Amino acid sequence: MSTLLEPRLVHKVEGNPWDIATYMKVGGYEAWKKCVTQLTPEQIVQELKSSGLRGRGGAGFPTGVKWDKVLNHRVKERYFVCNAGEHEPGTFKDRHLLKTVPHQLIEGCLIASLTARAKASFIYVNHEYHEERENLKKALAEARQRGFIGKNVFGSGIDIDLEVFEGHGSYVAGEETAMLESMQGRPAMPRQKPPFYPTDFGLYGKPTLVNNVETLCNIPRILYKGASWFTEVGTEKCPGTMMFSLSGAVNRPGVYEMPMGVSIRELVETCGGGVPGGRKIKAVFPGGPAFSMVTADQLDLPMDFDSLKKAGTGLGSAGVIVVDDATCMVRQTLKFSNFFKGESCGQCPPCRMGTINLATLMTKIEAGEGTQKDLDSLLQLCGFVKGTGYCTLVTGASVLVQSSLKLFRHEFEEHIRLQRCPFPAAPVEAAVH
Ligand SMILES: Cc1cc2nc3c(=O)[nH]c(=O)nc-3n(C[C@H](O)[C@H](O)[C@H](O)COP(=O)(O)O)c2cc1C
Repeated sequence: MSTLLEPRLVHKVEGNPWDIATYMKVGGYEAWKKCVTQLTPEQIVQELKSSGLRGRGGAGFPTGVKWDKVLNHRVKERYFVCNAGEHEPGTFKDRHLLKTVPHQLIEGCLIASLTARAKASFIYVNHEYHEERENLKKALAEARQRGFIGKNVFGSGIDIDLEVFEGHGSYVAGEETAMLESMQGRPAMPRQKPPFYPTDFGLYGKPTLVNNVETLCNIPRILYKGASWFTEVGTEKCPGTMMFSLSGAVNRPGVYEMPMGVSIRELVETCGGGVPGGRKIKAVFPGGPAFSMVTADQLDLPMDFDSLKKAGTGLGSAGVIVVDDATCMVRQTLKFSNFFKGESCGQCPPCRMGTINLATLMTKIEAGEGTQKDLDSLLQLCGFVKGTGYCTLVTGASVLVQSSLKLFRHEFEEHIRLQRCPFPAAPVEAAVH
């Protein structure tokens, strides 16, 4: 796999990519015009199916299939929501896209809204993304002024509007059904799926198309350049590029657009400039803290949904966190266990109690007060709560601990044997977040 030199999703432009005039110079809003004036919703869906685009919000679900489901739903009152709820540790790619290419996102949202024949459409933005929300509102005003949004767009008789919705500031609120609940003024708690998938039962109980920011930013490029252009890079089953949020022990943390299937090594070494201070990689979270870690001997694994799943982990929304050999894995695991505990919405008892108990046991072991029996209890608890919630939060919390214990059990045992952390003293907060 060769390094991608020319970005494709956030293409290079002269000037500020967030200005509407600059965006239009590189074909911005051309796909929107084509969709309004030349294509039927069925043709749009067909092009997306041919592109093989898969959702970038974490699950990798085929976008064309989802759009088809909403388009052909027997219920005619439908909604569209762009999910910019991003709140996972180590994931900041949607924030980058909101900042740099707001018009590309708006164009993708307009196409989605048109295809779904949505009655109303929203961009749900994480409560903490103040600057990005304001930028987006400014961009929407510019698009309105140019006549891309509003009544009778391109003289087609089509009226379309798009609104920014100030979201919740929690991790679970990014889960699509919790997001839809919170948009209706209810607590941000997930619904049980099945049966309550948003494509059937979404906003106000009506079919709702929900897509991630990055997924939607891909749409105008696919429709402007064609599905075959999109499939030129990436893997057969995961075409296109991915925006990787790279953080932790790397010299150059940041957001990198690379082809699907790029190796972890290329991402860490070529993009991230390797590990600081000549230290070695101890572990990498390829898909954020809710998926199993990989170790230094697995750096040639391709980063795409299927390859990582086959390797027993996952890509998620590509929040890649690198951990160096100076890090205590017990402390690192505790840090993320505390995150899951704090973010559980409390609706499902196994998640509410499981995340608290996992964090309590981890705190005890990290403090040097644990016993061998606590390690058994940790594993037993993981097995008990995994897969039990309405969403995957508690599964992520269990996978984290299971993976850490499987790969770094000796570090847990050292804490028990020495009755202290064997690594130089550092507060829990110092672990990678
Ligand atoms: C706990 C949790 C948090 C999530 N947070 C986000 C998020 O911040 N943004 C997002 O797009 N998807 C998030 N998802 C996934 C969404 O539920 C949903 O699958 C996604 O928005 C669908 O868009 P896509 O098909 O374009 O990927 C989250 C899922 C879970 C279980």
